[in-house]
Amino acid sequence: MSPAPDADASAASAAASSAAAALQKGDAEFTPTLWTADGPVETTAPDPPAGDAAAAPPLSKNARKRLAKQEAWEAKKRQKKEEEKSARKAKGVQVRAEHAQKLEAMTAEERAAYEETRRAAREARMRDAEAAKAKKMAALEAPHAVVLDLEFSHLMDEKEMRSLAKQLAFCYAANTKAKVQTCMHITGLGGAIGAVVRKHCSGFDKWAAHREDGAYIDALAERKADLVYLTADSDCELTEFKPGEVYVIGGIVDRNRHKNLTLNKANEQGIRHARLPIRDHLKMTGTHILTVNQTMDIVHASLELGDWEKALERVVPLRKHRPEEEGEEKRDEEKREDAPEGERSE
Ligand SMILES: C[S@@+](CC[C@H](N)C(=O)[O-])C[C@H]1O[C@@H](n2cnc3c(N)ncnc32)[C@H](O)[C@@H]1O
Repeated sequence: MSPAPDADASAASAAASSAAAALQKGDAEFTPTLWTADGPVETTAPDPPAGDAAAAPPLSKNARKRLAKQEAWEAKKRQKKEEEKSARKAKGVQVRAEHAQKLEAMTAEERAAYEETRRAAREARMRDAEAAKAKKMAALEAPHAVVLDLEFSHLMDEKEMRSLAKQLAFCYAANTKAKVQTCMHITGLGGAIGAVVRKHCSGFDKWAAHREDGAYIDALAERKADLVYLTADSDCELTEFKPGEVYVIGGIVDRNRHKNLTLNKANEQGIRHARLPIRDHLKMTGTHILTVNQTMDIVHASLELGDWEKALERVVPLRKHRPEEEGEEKRDEEKREDAPEGERSE
């Protein structure tokens, strides 16, 4: 990849210093390589502030108001949680009392039959839960693998990171229900996104997925030849999702601010890349760049249906399809477009 042009060097160094500041707050051991649209930027932790310089500046009136509002909201949330807990406890006491009364009113025979029905129902529930768990765990052995590459924390604001965390939860939920599951690797959790994901994705550390603080390129070093970065900017079109290959999805919500970001990363790392065959199989308005969870849904739909057109139609929202009658002329025009424009589907 060519070196970063001057105009963009300041953006890259701003990204590096913001990450360095994050490092100062968090894990001093973790010194990630930051991926910017211009390539990798190495980070180092800054020297700690000395003496008076360490003292926090006084808060503005607006910041104090915001903080007070936030604290009041947190207190209300805690109180609501406490109330819900007490209500649950009271309900439990009531249910147990009603159950005891019901048993007392029964004959010995009725009681035995009733207990037997309850025992059978309990066993069926346990069998279902075990089967569901086994299905989830089987994903770890699936021949099709997907990496969700979360090494882009420094390119997103808080809101975008929250949105990405939700998309990640959709990806996982979809994988647990998919007819053909994939083995999920979630990498790059050592950046700021790790905390956001753990806060917003319930049970994240118990998910049947491989989790890595570091980069997939290190975690899957021995499978480098199998890696294929999925990127809308690639000039290679994907023909099929093959077992044994590892498809990387860029974990970023950027409303297309960072063009060629993942394409450059794949080229820099010397791994293969491919775009989904959207242009040939779907008449679409606007951009061909999908969200992280839509991309994951296409992996699942394609594996299940074995047909790109059906898979894309199932996943891409109808509002993005262009009506047939607009004709082939526009479609050819679109094929000539170098960079996609228009609204993102995020
Ligand atoms: C919101 S997009 C990120 C766009 C980002 N500017 C980039 O350079 O990849 C999230 C991810 O979904 C995947 N993706 C979205 N549309 C795609 C397409 N048409 N073909 C292949 N992958 C796609 C890519 O892995 C991409 O990184």
